[in-house]
Amino acid sequence: MPKIPIIMDCDPGHDDAIALLWALSEPEKLDLKAVTIVAGNQTLANTTRNALRVLTFAGRTDIPVAMGADRPLMRPSIFEQGATEMVHGQSGLDGPAMPEPGFEPVPMRALDLLIKTIEESEEKITLVPTGPLTNVAALFLVRPDLKAKIERISLMGGGSYTGNWTPAAEYNIYVDPEAASIVFQSGVPIVMAGLDVTHQAYITREENEELRQKGGRCAVFTAELIDFFSRYHYEVEKLPGCTIHDACAVAYLCHPEIFTGVDCHVDIELEGSLTAGTTVCDPGNYEGKNHNATVLYGVDRERFAELFIEAMSRLDQ
Ligand code: RIB
Ligand code: CA
Repeated sequence: MPKIPIIMDCDPGHDDAIALLWALSEPEKLDLKAVTIVAGNQTLANTTRNALRVLTFAGRTDIPVAMGADRPLMRPSIFEQGATEMVHGQSGLDGPAMPEPGFEPVPMRALDLLIKTIEESEEKITLVPTGPLTNVAALFLVRPDLKAKIERISLMGGGSYTGNWTPAAEYNIYVDPEAASIVFQSGVPIVMAGLDVTHQAYITREENEELRQKGGRCAVFTAELIDFFSRYHYEVEKLPGCTIHDACAVAYLCHPEIFTGVDCHVDIELEGSLTAGTTVCDPGNYEGKNHNATVLYGVDRERFAELFIEAMSRLDQ
């Protein structure tokens, strides 16, 4: 299988950090060309610092990082009010000891790095957004011609049957519904890893201990990320394990066989006072709407956990 050239657009965040590390652990499958940053789990300054720290930790200061949107396209930001500190902590990546950034972002904006990387690539690029879709929407608004050079978008966001920031909306979509609407209407093929599948993609306490026992610095680091991140999942969301949401967007590209999905037409609710940010997923061909996304509904959880532990341990080899 030829390597897939990808750009990750993220808001680290514990699960973004794990998704980044997973992408780096599969060099025979993924070629991480660039990382662009968006405000989401934390302010842009914090999500940028966290991405630089993770890449420094992984010894990958060669990967270009660029700062993008510090707020949604149209709505007030919710992360300025410290909305997600209960999930990711004040830094956005609380928990394990981490190095300070060993390098600086490149002297261009995320939009410019996205354009540059896509234009310079001989192959079509796969975008892997794991935060609000503000940067990706901006790319499609400013350079719609580049859609032809994008293979597909494998994103974490949305959900058919539930939300996690409101009862109806998942956080990434809720933060910037207008951006999500632009992306889902773009015509670029989308694989949507929403809460339907990410709530199944959890790591149990026992599996996290198995990871920690691997003993390598990345394995231990990731286990400590999960130690912190899982508190919210156990105590607030009452889930059976720590859902590493964003890792699904990367794992799908490397191991699609462990996932199941349904082709749907996905629209984003923009108007509802109670439902803004809902991804309305329609598997039928009603009203002649095209299928713009493959919505993931299932994953072999045990296999996902095995592959996750293997990936994190591989980084220590
Ligand atoms: O709803 C989960 C998503 O919101 C993940 O991307 C997590 O990092 C947060 O951004
Ligand atoms: Ca994220």
